Amino acid sequence: MTRNRDGARPRSGSARLFFALWPEAGVQEALEAFARELRAECGGRAISARNIHLTLAFLGETERALLPRLKALAATVAAPRFDLSVDYVEHWRHNHIVWAGVKQCPEALQALAAGLGAKLRAIGFKIDERPYVPHITLVRDARQAPALTRAPPVGWPVKDFVLVESVPREGVRVYEVLHRWPLAK
Ligand code: 2AM
Repeated sequence: MTRNRDGARPRSGSARLFFALWPEAGVQEALEAFARELRAECGGRAISARNIHLTLAFLGETERALLPRLKALAATVAAPRFDLSVDYVEHWRHNHIVWAGVKQCPEALQALAAGLGAKLRAIGFKIDERPYVPHITLVRDARQAPALTRAPPVGWPVKDFVLVESVPREGVRVYEVLHRWPLAK
Protein backbone atom coordinates (compact mmCIF):
# COMPACT_ATOMS: atom_id res chain seq x y z
CA MET A 1 0.00 0.00 0.00
CA THR A 2 1.26 3.48 -0.83
CA ARG A 3 1.87 5.63 2.21
CA ASN A 4 3.02 9.19 2.76
CA ARG A 5 6.34 9.87 4.46
CA ASP A 6 4.55 10.16 7.85
CA GLY A 7 3.08 6.66 7.41
CA ALA A 8 -0.45 7.87 6.64
CA ARG A 9 -2.32 6.79 3.54
CA PRO A 10 -2.56 9.50 0.90
CA ARG A 11 -5.85 11.40 1.14
CA SER A 12 -8.46 10.37 -1.41
CA GLY A 13 -10.50 12.85 -3.43
CA SER A 14 -13.37 12.69 -0.96
CA ALA A 15 -13.78 12.92 2.80
CA ARG A 16 -16.49 11.95 5.29
CA LEU A 17 -17.45 15.29 6.83
CA PHE A 18 -19.73 16.73 9.49
CA PHE A 19 -20.27 20.01 11.31
CA ALA A 20 -20.22 19.69 15.08
CA LEU A 21 -19.78 21.30 18.46
CA TRP A 22 -16.46 20.18 19.89
CA PRO A 23 -16.18 20.63 23.67
CA GLU A 24 -13.04 21.71 25.46
CA ALA A 25 -11.01 18.99 27.20
CA GLY A 26 -12.61 19.46 30.64
CA VAL A 27 -16.10 18.86 29.26
CA GLN A 28 -14.90 15.88 27.20
CA GLU A 29 -13.30 14.37 30.32
CA ALA A 30 -16.46 14.84 32.43
CA LEU A 31 -18.52 13.17 29.71
CA GLU A 32 -15.97 10.38 29.31
CA ALA A 33 -16.25 9.63 33.06
CA PHE A 34 -20.03 9.39 32.60
CA ALA A 35 -19.54 7.21 29.49
CA ARG A 36 -17.51 4.75 31.58
CA GLU A 37 -20.23 4.56 34.22
CA LEU A 38 -22.78 3.91 31.50
CA ARG A 39 -20.61 1.23 29.93
CA ALA A 40 -20.36 -0.54 33.29
CA GLU A 41 -24.15 -0.57 33.46
CA CYS A 42 -25.11 -1.14 29.82
CA GLY A 43 -22.13 -3.01 28.31
CA GLY A 44 -20.56 -2.01 24.98
CA ARG A 45 -17.73 0.42 24.28
CA ALA A 46 -17.33 3.79 25.95
CA ILE A 47 -16.33 6.65 23.64
CA SER A 48 -12.98 8.15 24.58
CA ALA A 49 -12.74 11.79 25.64
CA ARG A 50 -11.00 13.00 22.48
CA ASN A 51 -13.89 11.74 20.29
CA ILE A 52 -16.75 13.22 22.32
CA HIS A 53 -18.74 15.76 20.29
CA LEU A 54 -22.20 16.86 19.26
CA THR A 55 -23.03 16.70 15.55
CA LEU A 56 -24.89 19.68 14.04
CA ALA A 57 -25.13 18.46 10.45
CA PHE A 58 -23.84 15.27 8.87
CA LEU A 59 -22.61 15.70 5.28
CA GLY A 60 -21.26 12.22 4.59
CA GLU A 61 -18.77 11.48 1.81
CA THR A 62 -17.95 14.80 0.16
CA GLU A 63 -15.56 15.84 -2.61
CA ARG A 64 -12.56 17.64 -1.11
CA ALA A 65 -12.91 20.18 -3.93
CA LEU A 66 -16.02 21.44 -2.10
CA LEU A 67 -14.09 22.28 1.09
CA PRO A 68 -13.50 25.98 0.21
CA ARG A 69 -17.22 26.36 -0.53
CA LEU A 70 -18.17 24.70 2.76
CA LYS A 71 -15.78 26.92 4.70
CA ALA A 72 -17.15 30.03 2.99
CA LEU A 73 -20.69 28.91 3.82
CA ALA A 74 -19.85 28.28 7.48
CA ALA A 75 -18.28 31.73 7.72
CA THR A 76 -21.69 33.26 6.88
CA VAL A 77 -23.34 31.65 9.92
CA ALA A 78 -24.22 34.40 12.39
CA ALA A 79 -25.22 32.81 15.69
CA PRO A 80 -24.67 33.61 19.36
CA ARG A 81 -22.75 31.69 22.00
CA PHE A 82 -24.85 29.71 24.44
CA ASP A 83 -24.58 27.40 27.43
CA LEU A 84 -25.50 23.78 27.18
CA SER A 85 -26.34 21.76 30.27
CA VAL A 86 -26.01 18.09 29.39
CA ASP A 87 -28.50 16.53 31.79
CA TYR A 88 -30.22 13.68 30.00
CA VAL A 89 -29.36 10.16 28.83
CA GLU A 90 -31.14 7.86 26.43
CA HIS A 91 -30.68 4.52 24.69
CA TRP A 92 -31.44 3.94 21.01
CA ARG A 93 -32.35 0.31 20.50
CA HIS A 94 -32.02 0.41 16.67
CA ASN A 95 -28.29 1.25 16.70
CA HIS A 96 -27.35 0.19 20.27
CA ILE A 97 -26.15 3.63 21.25
CA VAL A 98 -26.36 5.24 24.66
CA TRP A 99 -26.20 9.00 24.32
CA ALA A 100 -26.32 12.12 26.42
CA GLY A 101 -28.29 15.19 25.55
CA VAL A 102 -30.45 17.93 26.96
CA LYS A 103 -33.96 17.75 28.41
CA GLN A 104 -34.69 21.11 26.82
CA CYS A 105 -32.81 21.98 23.62
CA PRO A 106 -31.67 25.65 23.84
CA GLU A 107 -33.23 27.78 21.13
CA ALA A 108 -29.76 28.94 20.08
CA LEU A 109 -28.69 25.33 19.38
CA GLN A 110 -31.87 24.53 17.49
CA ALA A 111 -31.41 27.70 15.39
CA LEU A 112 -27.72 26.99 14.74
CA ALA A 113 -28.38 23.44 13.50
CA ALA A 114 -31.43 24.53 11.45
CA GLY A 115 -29.59 27.51 9.93
CA LEU A 116 -26.59 25.43 8.96
CA GLY A 117 -28.85 22.68 7.55
CA ALA A 118 -30.78 25.19 5.43
CA LYS A 119 -27.60 26.72 4.00
CA LEU A 120 -26.20 23.26 3.18
CA ARG A 121 -29.44 22.13 1.53
CA ALA A 122 -29.40 25.32 -0.56
CA ILE A 123 -26.10 24.23 -2.13
CA GLY A 124 -27.29 20.68 -2.74
CA PHE A 125 -26.39 18.68 0.39
CA LYS A 126 -28.92 16.10 1.55
CA ILE A 127 -29.14 16.90 5.24
CA ASP A 128 -31.38 14.83 7.54
CA GLU A 129 -34.89 16.37 7.36
CA ARG A 130 -36.06 14.91 10.68
CA PRO A 131 -36.37 17.22 13.69
CA TYR A 132 -32.94 17.89 15.13
CA VAL A 133 -32.26 15.80 18.25
CA PRO A 134 -28.92 16.85 19.77
CA HIS A 135 -27.15 13.68 20.86
CA ILE A 136 -23.67 13.00 22.18
CA THR A 137 -22.86 9.33 21.64
CA LEU A 138 -21.22 7.95 24.80
CA VAL A 139 -21.48 4.16 24.39
CA ARG A 140 -21.65 2.03 21.24
CA ASP A 141 -22.83 -1.61 21.04
CA ALA A 142 -24.73 -1.24 24.33
CA ARG A 143 -26.57 -4.38 25.44
CA GLN A 144 -29.23 -2.60 27.48
CA ALA A 145 -30.66 0.79 28.37
CA PRO A 146 -29.51 2.63 31.50
CA ALA A 147 -31.97 2.59 34.40
CA LEU A 148 -32.16 6.38 34.64
CA THR A 149 -32.65 9.11 32.05
CA ARG A 150 -31.08 11.68 34.37
CA ALA A 151 -27.41 12.49 33.77
CA PRO A 152 -25.11 14.22 36.26
CA PRO A 153 -25.26 17.74 34.77
CA VAL A 154 -22.23 18.78 32.73
CA GLY A 155 -22.04 22.47 31.85
CA TRP A 156 -20.69 23.21 28.39
CA PRO A 157 -20.15 26.81 27.36
CA VAL A 158 -20.47 26.66 23.55
CA LYS A 159 -18.24 29.28 21.95
CA ASP A 160 -17.66 27.92 18.46
CA PHE A 161 -18.50 25.21 15.95
CA VAL A 162 -16.25 23.07 13.76
CA LEU A 163 -15.99 21.13 10.51
CA VAL A 164 -14.71 17.61 11.14
CA GLU A 165 -13.32 14.86 8.93
CA SER A 166 -13.88 11.27 9.99
CA VAL A 167 -10.71 9.49 8.88
CA PRO A 168 -10.46 5.67 8.73
CA ARG A 169 -7.21 4.66 10.40
CA GLU A 170 -6.20 1.09 11.24
CA GLY A 171 -9.76 -0.16 11.46
CA VAL A 172 -11.12 2.72 13.56
CA ARG A 173 -12.41 6.19 12.72
CA VAL A 174 -10.40 9.14 13.93
CA TYR A 175 -11.95 12.60 14.00
CA GLU A 176 -9.88 15.53 12.74
CA VAL A 177 -11.12 19.07 13.27
CA LEU A 178 -10.47 20.84 9.96
CA HIS A 179 -11.68 24.33 10.83
CA ARG A 180 -13.28 26.28 13.69
CA TRP A 181 -15.68 29.26 13.55
CA PRO A 182 -16.39 31.42 16.61
CA LEU A 183 -19.95 32.15 17.72
CA ALA A 184 -20.80 35.77 18.54
CA LYS A 185 -20.30 37.06 22.11
P1 2AM B 1 -23.51 8.77 15.93
O1 2AM B 1 -22.53 9.10 17.01
O2 2AM B 1 -24.90 8.62 16.44
O3 2AM B 1 -23.06 7.61 15.09
C1 2AM B 1 -19.62 11.15 12.83
O4 2AM B 1 -19.96 9.91 12.35
C2 2AM B 1 -20.80 11.84 13.47
O5 2AM B 1 -21.86 11.96 12.53
C3 2AM B 1 -21.37 11.12 14.66
O6 2AM B 1 -21.83 12.09 15.59
C4 2AM B 1 -22.51 10.33 14.09
O7 2AM B 1 -23.55 10.05 14.97
C5 2AM B 1 -23.00 11.27 13.02
N1 2AM B 1 -23.62 10.56 11.91
C6 2AM B 1 -23.15 9.48 11.27
N2 2AM B 1 -23.98 9.12 10.26
C7 2AM B 1 -25.00 9.99 10.29
C8 2AM B 1 -26.18 10.14 9.51
N3 2AM B 1 -26.47 9.35 8.48
N4 2AM B 1 -27.02 11.15 9.83
C9 2AM B 1 -26.74 11.97 10.85
N5 2AM B 1 -25.63 11.88 11.62
C10 2AM B 1 -24.78 10.90 11.35
